[in-house]
Amino acid sequence: MKILLVGGTGTIGSRITDRLSDDHDLVIAGHSSGDIQTDITDPESIKTLFEEVGAVDAVVVTTGSAPMKPIDQLTNDDFLEGVQSKMMGQINVALTALDYLNDNGSVTLTSGILSHDPIPQGTVLSAINNAVNGFVIGAYGEFLEKGFRINVVSPALVEDSAEALADYFPGHTPATMSDVVDGYVKSLQTKITGQIIDID
Ligand SMILES: NC(=O)c1ccc[n+]([C@@H]2O[C@H](COP(=O)([O-])OP(=O)(O)OC[C@H]3O[C@@H](n4cnc5c(N)ncnc54)[C@H](OP(=O)(O)O)[C@@H]3O)[C@@H](O)[C@H]2O)c1
Repeated sequence: MKILLVGGTGTIGSRITDRLSDDHDLVIAGHSSGDIQTDITDPESIKTLFEEVGAVDAVVVTTGSAPMKPIDQLTNDDFLEGVQSKMMGQINVALTALDYLNDNGSVTLTSGILSHDPIPQGTVLSAINNAVNGFVIGAYGEFLEKGFRINVVSPALVEDSAEALADYFPGHTPATMSDVVDGYVKSLQTKITGQIIDID
């Protein structure tokens, strides 16, 4: 398969790259790293990315951020930052992909455990993760009509981030990188669609 992996140089993306690179034709997109650069917060940049990469069998997105802050410090701009990056960034990749997917193509997005298992200071991410999950639930029927699939992987705190983020996630058990990558492989290589693939 020719797979465009947006965020493929990051913590999760690089592990997916390691698993898939022998058997698939991967195009790794990063912000300043990777085979090709893009900015998912800018729809024109996403369009340029697809024009350069061309038709693909699958798109995987492992990027998008949102600020973490105590709720009494959250501003409208904090939410908009999450909307522009993790929510609309991923959604715009999925919408743009509709014009570049080969027959039976798929899109896999990334949300996260905070959609249903919250932590202090994680309110924006909880809201945004549910928005990404909601997009997949809303979109999969029309993707299906076009012969495409779309899923979202929702990982727990991942092992490779545990040391850096453990203080934010009291009582959370990190997911192994192998289990997290399995979630993306399941989305890519089975026939499931419209699924929130929880890895926790
Ligand atoms: N890490 C976790 O424990 C965890 C748990 C659950 C969910 N998640 C979610 O999983 C996703 C990936 O997390 P991660 O920890 O792997 O992230 P990460 O290590 O920070 O990697 C981010 C990747 O995205 C790229 N990137 C950054 N800004 C971009 C932009 N504006 N446009 C395009 N690409 C951009 C980076 O490229 P450069 O290196 O070139 O900047 C890098 O390849 C995020 O949505 C995160 O919320 C993470």
